Amino acid sequence: TIRCQSTSTDGPKTRNLLDNASNLLTNFLSGGSLGSMPVAEGAVSDLFGRPLFLALYDWFLEHGSVYKLAFGPKAFVVVSDPIVARHILRENAFSYDKGVLADILEPIMGKGLIPADLDTWKPRRRVIAPGFHVLYLESMVKVFTNCSGRTISKFEELLEREGLQGRDTIELNLEAEFSSLALDIIGLGVFNYDFGSVTKESPIIKAVYGTLFEAEHRSTFYIPYWKFPLARWLVPRQRKFQKDLKDINDCLDGLIRNAKETRQETDVEKLQQRDYSNLKDASLLRFLVDMRGADVDDCQLRDDLMTMLIAGHETTAAVLTWAVFLLAQNPSKMKKAQAEIDTVLGQGRPTFDSLKKLEFIRLIVVESLRLFPQPPLLIRRSLKSDSLPGGHKGKKDGYAIPAGTDIFVSVYNLHRSPYFWDKPHEFEPERFLAQRNSEDIEGWAGFDPSRSPGALYPNEIISDFAFLPFGGGPRKCVGDQFALMESTVALAMLLQKFDVELKGPPESVEQVTGATIHTKNGLWCRVKKRSDVH
Ligand code: HEM
Repeated sequence: TIRCQSTSTDGPKTRNLLDNASNLLTNFLSGGSLGSMPVAEGAVSDLFGRPLFLALYDWFLEHGSVYKLAFGPKAFVVVSDPIVARHILRENAFSYDKGVLADILEPIMGKGLIPADLDTWKPRRRVIAPGFHVLYLESMVKVFTNCSGRTISKFEELLEREGLQGRDTIELNLEAEFSSLALDIIGLGVFNYDFGSVTKESPIIKAVYGTLFEAEHRSTFYIPYWKFPLARWLVPRQRKFQKDLKDINDCLDGLIRNAKETRQETDVEKLQQRDYSNLKDASLLRFLVDMRGADVDDCQLRDDLMTMLIAGHETTAAVLTWAVFLLAQNPSKMKKAQAEIDTVLGQGRPTFDSLKKLEFIRLIVVESLRLFPQPPLLIRRSLKSDSLPGGHKGKKDGYAIPAGTDIFVSVYNLHRSPYFWDKPHEFEPERFLAQRNSEDIEGWAGFDPSRSPGALYPNEIISDFAFLPFGGGPRKCVGDQFALMESTVALAMLLQKFDVELKGPPESVEQVTGATIHTKNGLWCRVKKRSDVH
C-alpha cells in the first residue's frame, strides 16, 4: 500500500535531484506541516500498467482537489482545482520553479526556457516571446501547408501503389506520420533546417528521436542513475544518449554559426519593417540573431533552440494523434469537419486568413487538448513557503506549504473535472461555444468566451484556469499560437483528402506517458481517399 505522508518543513534549496530525494526522504520520515491535507492511499498496483496521471484522477475524485501523495522517497502535492492552479501558475508564479522537471531536462535543454531558473528565464523570455509575432505566424502558415502537403503526397503515392493491387485503403501508423510532420515543421520554423523526415531517415533524425526517448525514460525512472560518476561512459544507453546529444548540438551549432555569418543588415531592416513576405529565411533563429546582433551568447541560443525543438515537436504530434483518435470514433463530427473544410477551402490550401473561418477544426484541436493535455501534469517546486487557497471542494482557509514542496498541477484532472465540465469525458468540440456561469463556485469566474476578445482559440483566460492547454501565467507556452495553427492546418489538409478509421478497437490504443501522452503501439489507422469529393 502507498500511504501518503507529510512533505517537508524545510525543503531543499538545491536543484540536485539526489539531494532532493534524500531531503524528501528525511521529511517523509520525520513528518511535516501539511498535516491537514487529505492523504491519498492506494495500492501500488494502481501505478502498474497504467500512467501515473490516470491514478491521480481516481485519487482526485476520492480525496478532493488538493491532496498529497507519496511513494517511496517522493512526496507530491496534487492540485486539480482552477483557483489553486491560478495561484501557483499566475498569482504567485515567482515563488515556484520547475523542480523535478528541471532536474530531468537540464542535461538535455541546459538553460533553455522550460527548465530555466527564474534569473536565467526572465531575460530570455523577453527576447524569445516577441519572435512569435503575428507576421512570423503568418509566414509560418506556408511552412505548415508545405510540410502537410508533403505528408498528403506521400499518402497519395502509397494509395496509388495499393490501387495497382486493386485496393483503395492503406494502413498507417498515423502517430509516427504526425511525429515526422511535426519534426519537419519545427526544424523549418525554428531554425530553417529541413529534416525531411516525412520522406527519409537520417542520423540527425535518429539522434533527435534518441534524445526524446531518453528524456522520456528519465521522466519515468525514479533513480537518477545517470548522475552517478562514470554512468555516461559505462551505461550503454547513456553513451548513446551523449552521442545523440553531441550530434544534435553540432548540428545546432552549425546553424547558429551560419545564421551569424549570413547576418545582413537588409534582413534586419526587413525584420524591423516587418516585411516577412520577402524574407527567404523567416525562422525564429534568424529573428533572434538579426534582432539581437552577433553578440548573442551561442550556448544560450543553442539551449533555447534545443528546448523549442523538443517542446514543439512531440506536443503537436500528440495533439494530432489524439484528434484523429477521437474523430475516428465520432464519424458525424468527422463529416461535419469535412463539410466545413469543403466550404471554406474547397480544394485549396489553408491560408492565415482562411484559418479564421475553420472554426470547427479549431474547436476539435482544443477539445483534443482538453481530453489529452500535453503534458498532462505541470510540475513545480515551491522556492519559499506559501499559502495555497483552499479551492473548490477544498478546505476554506487553504493549506500552508513549506519551501521545497513538490507539486503536480494536474491539467488532466482539471480538464476532466466533473465540477467544471458537463459530460467531462465526452468529445464535444461545440462545448467551447457556450458560456457557463460560475454558479456557486466561490473564487472562480466561470467560463466566458467574451473574456478573451479576438482569441481564435479558447484559452485559460476564458475558463479562469479550468482549461489550461498551454499552461498559464508568465511561464505559459510561447509557441501556443504556432502550435494551434500548425495543428489546424495539418488536420484540415488531412481531412480534406482522406477518410480515416481506426484499424482496431479504440480500447486497443493504450496510453503511455513520458512528457506527453502517446500510444503504446502506435495509432494504426485505415486511410482512404474521400469518396465524396472529386
Ligand atoms: C511551455 C504546451 C507547442 C515552446 C509550455 C507549457 C505547456 C506547453 C503546457 C507550460 C509548461 C509549464 O508551465 O510547466 C504545449 C503544447 C503544444 C506546445 C500542448 C502543442 C500543441 C510548443 C511549440 C513551441 C513551444 C510549437 C515552440 C515553437 C514552449 C516553450 C515553453 C513552453 C519555450 C516554456 C515557456 C517558458 O517557460 O517561458 N508548452 N506547447 N511549445 N512551450 Fe509549449
